[in-house]
Amino acid sequence: METYKNPQSSVSERVEDLLLRMTIEEKIGQLSQVPAGTENTEEVGCLIKAGRVGSRILAFTAHAGSEKQLIVDITESNEAQRIAVEESRLGIPVINGKDVIHGYRTSFPIPLAQAASFDPQLVEEAASFMALEASAEAVHWTFAPMLDISRDPRWGRIIEGFGEDPYLCSAMASASVRGIQGEDMSKDGKIAACAKHYIGYGAAEGGRDYNSVEISDNTLRNIYLPPFKAAVEAGVSTIMSAFHENGGEPVTASKYLLTDVLKGELGFNGFVISDWDSVKQLLHQSVAANEAEAAEIAFNAGVDMEMASSCYEKHIKELIKAGKIDIERVEDAVRRILTIKFKLGLFEKPYTDINLAKDVMLKPEHLECAKRLASRSMVLLKNNNVLPLSSCGIKIAVIGPMAKERKAMNGSWCLDSNIDRVVTVEEGMRTIASEVEIITSSGALTDNMIYEARKADIIVAVLGESDIRNGEGNCIADILLPPGQTEMIELLKHLGKPIVSVICSGRPLNIERVCQLSDAVLYAWHPGTQGGLAVADILFGHVNPSGKLPVTFLNSIGQVPLYYNHKSNGRPIDDYYNCLSGWNYQDSTGKPLFPFGYGLSYTTFKYDSITLNKEVIKVGDCIEVSANVTNTGSLAGEEVVQCYIRDKVASCSRPVKELKGFKRVFLKPGDSERVSFALGMEELSFYGRDGSFQLEPGKFTVWIGGDCMSELKVEFEVSKSN
Ligand code: GLC
Repeated sequence: METYKNPQSSVSERVEDLLLRMTIEEKIGQLSQVPAGTENTEEVGCLIKAGRVGSRILAFTAHAGSEKQLIVDITESNEAQRIAVEESRLGIPVINGKDVIHGYRTSFPIPLAQAASFDPQLVEEAASFMALEASAEAVHWTFAPMLDISRDPRWGRIIEGFGEDPYLCSAMASASVRGIQGEDMSKDGKIAACAKHYIGYGAAEGGRDYNSVEISDNTLRNIYLPPFKAAVEAGVSTIMSAFHENGGEPVTASKYLLTDVLKGELGFNGFVISDWDSVKQLLHQSVAANEAEAAEIAFNAGVDMEMASSCYEKHIKELIKAGKIDIERVEDAVRRILTIKFKLGLFEKPYTDINLAKDVMLKPEHLECAKRLASRSMVLLKNNNVLPLSSCGIKIAVIGPMAKERKAMNGSWCLDSNIDRVVTVEEGMRTIASEVEIITSSGALTDNMIYEARKADIIVAVLGESDIRNGEGNCIADILLPPGQTEMIELLKHLGKPIVSVICSGRPLNIERVCQLSDAVLYAWHPGTQGGLAVADILFGHVNPSGKLPVTFLNSIGQVPLYYNHKSNGRPIDDYYNCLSGWNYQDSTGKPLFPFGYGLSYTTFKYDSITLNKEVIKVGDCIEVSANVTNTGSLAGEEVVQCYIRDKVASCSRPVKELKGFKRVFLKPGDSERVSFALGMEELSFYGRDGSFQLEPGKFTVWIGGDCMSELKVEFEVSKSN
């Protein structure tokens, strides 16, 4: 038996043995990913047989997130794989990639909502169920997690990432990779992950997708790089190069970013795949005159596999002959790709059991996890003691454009879920509080809704955005609710009844007016299959809300970008001009509508007694900061305790606050807990102007509290002397 076919041999032995047997054409074949499915089985089958396809992407459009995708045909996938294994010369399996972002048949909340749970463990569990369901339909590799830090709610893809903070996004990155890949990707139900879109895609100018980005290397390293570093440390198999250009250099053409930083500094040993056509798009970005140049630039930059376009397939062989691409670089890329295929166990288990899917889709534990993650991600923004609702003796009007919505509850990038299984908010409320009289509107017209609302004791208005107002290419110039929704609340207000507004949206919207008019506001995001039940659990008090905002909410589009971890400007905070211009506009406030980390509970929490285990530490030491958290209310509840630091003086300007720890704490009424955070090199270091990751001696402030506006603080010093 050839070494590469022997599962007893090590992965590296198998890779090297196979590499020696491959022709240059077969090596180049591994570098191409082609769109494939039932529509082109025969054509792709011929390419596979000739050893010219390394991967199939189970999609037919670049806008997978917003358009109905093809339903995967397992038989078709197995046939394509059979051709690869039994009819190609060396029998190298293809790896099937697909966008499985926040769920498969069971949809979990959108990633931005998952971040609001501040519960990495639960996010990991959800990711594992997502991978299990996807693997049952011949998906070997997902293009998730999306790790783009975003500070611009106009950008449609803000929903797809984990918000504005590097620390929170890094925690979610690690959890997602662990959930998707597990400890051993060859195990059933595990697939390869892909951290994307490396790097800085969320900083698109104007919040317009694919647009140019201008971020300094220092900002790129301190804000955008940490989640990818976390994913690499978690063992992510692949990373996707982004569409955009930063400072004149398309990322897909950047040797500095893809090879020097990612593969060099971070030691990433998986493979880099381009985004859809992003190699060919180098022509549009005017850095390549033709597809041959595009192939040369992208491949030499470090893009190992080309998605969708065929520049590699057409031109790499001639580029090698012309001495423009080294065969060593080709073999490096092939090694990386084959290593992932061996680690996935594709050579031993290339086919998918067609009977598996019916057993794993929408399993009760998947649905339970989806409901739990949805309810823990929802954020209570306001409550004038109208929540939780009593479940007897009252009439509740459940109205609004999202009250009966199913598809929108899934959010964008949810291609394979069973929409019929989505629980609407109305259904959720009828299920959870069957004894309550729920009044709803038969029609979609506001008139009908207001007519029904007149009969109720309390109004639950379910507002929000459709899934197609978010996601790739779906950006908006203003961040208000869709037309008519705020006006509906204005009209309902005249009825003089309590109004509970539930916002089912992907992005953080400017809901200032709705908040003024409502007696309670619950931000439910796009919560997935079990969203309606999760909303009802919270509204009726079966679950005490504990979600916290992973992104700043604005009260004017003019504030963009506004985020909590900003730098301090040069004006002293009490300076007259700073009070006007540094923070405020003449025509609006500079303050956020709701700050990062904010979220209410049905109970209240008090923080006090912040202390340090020492006042001064040496570089390399750890310091421990602690504080008491007390449940001062009448209901048990969970609080996300957060820890922020500020490096007061450094060789480059540092943010006024940075999240460096969070812990969920469950407390019964009257109970207290002392919560501690350890701060060491990783938490206190930053990338300096020279690009090195360093901890500089000096003074630090540390806060502990329930959001980024906490005032409970203490100072410590990192001493110069060692
Ligand atoms: C899209 C997206 C990317 C996705 C890929 C495949 O354009 O940018 O996130 O994974 O193409 O659908």
